[in-house]
Amino acid sequence: MSEGFSADWLALREPFDRVARSRRLAARLAEALPARPRIMDLGAGTASLFRFLAPIIGRAQAWTIVDADEALLGRAFARTADWAEARGLRVTTPGRALLIHTPSGAWRIEALATDFGDDPSRLPFATHDAVVCSALMDLVSAAWAERLAAALHVPFLACLTVDGRDRFRPAHPDDRLIARGFARDMRRDKGFGRAMGADAPATLARLFAARGFRVATAPSDWIIPPIAGPMLEAMVRGHAAAAANALPAATARIAAWEQARLALLARGRLALTIGHRDLLALPAET
Ligand SMILES: C[S@@+](CC[C@H](N)C(=O)[O-])C[C@H]1O[C@@H](n2cnc3c(N)ncnc32)[C@H](O)[C@@H]1O
Repeated sequence: MSEGFSADWLALREPFDRVARSRRLAARLAEALPARPRIMDLGAGTASLFRFLAPIIGRAQAWTIVDADEALLGRAFARTADWAEARGLRVTTPGRALLIHTPSGAWRIEALATDFGDDPSRLPFATHDAVVCSALMDLVSAAWAERLAAALHVPFLACLTVDGRDRFRPAHPDDRLIARGFARDMRRDKGFGRAMGADAPATLARLFAARGFRVATAPSDWIIPPIAGPMLEAMVRGHAAAAANALPAATARIAAWEQARLALLARGRLALTIGHRDLLALPAET
């Protein structure tokens, strides 16, 4: 794995993720699953997708959260236990699992620490009823996604894949320069081959449809208002750093753009939309 993601960043984005995710596609997945589904979350991080999806599934369920970063998986257990207890749910830890006792059945989580960058098909898909992921598919290559599609015979939900429709408001003359650099940086190899970046939603839809899956997609944009200072600052700095990495000859213009954006932010006048799509692929027989 070549790219690290901090638990602080995942915590900062979680409230934006929660409102952006498509509830319609999540509900369709829940309907397609058996009575006590076993779900695998690829690149689960701190298990933000579990905290969104488990209540929508709303019955006994068992999750395998998979990530190369063992520290994030540890944080996933701690955060999810706190989240459940804050909702009045009892939490136990039998063996290596986390068990949340709900009125509609137990929600079990186990962690699998592994780097799946070389080949997703060696993951234990056969013992799961669905595979899900969030903020992962724009990092992987089309060849990796093709291997995933070939290996899967169960429903697949890919949330929050970037699609390039980012818009800073108000506009700045160098927004296009930043978008070009950011898009180029998105395609850097993140440990899976050349990343799909903003092409990921369309490519995924094509690959899964070609394998006979019924594919549905929905927008899941982040809407980041002027009051969301820390998130806006992270996005401005992140876009500028990515653009400077991709376009070293434009470093001075990019730095000026960053300063102009941070100045607007400080005056409470900057807003941002980040374009994402969620995708649900159901095998033909479901
Ligand atoms: C952008 S984060 C998303 C985390 C989480 N799904 C969420 O929505 O908050 C991408 C996650 O993929 C994991 N990851 C990246 N490359 C990986 C690899 N080759 N093998 C396993 N996990 C990987 C990272 O450790 C990180 O937790």
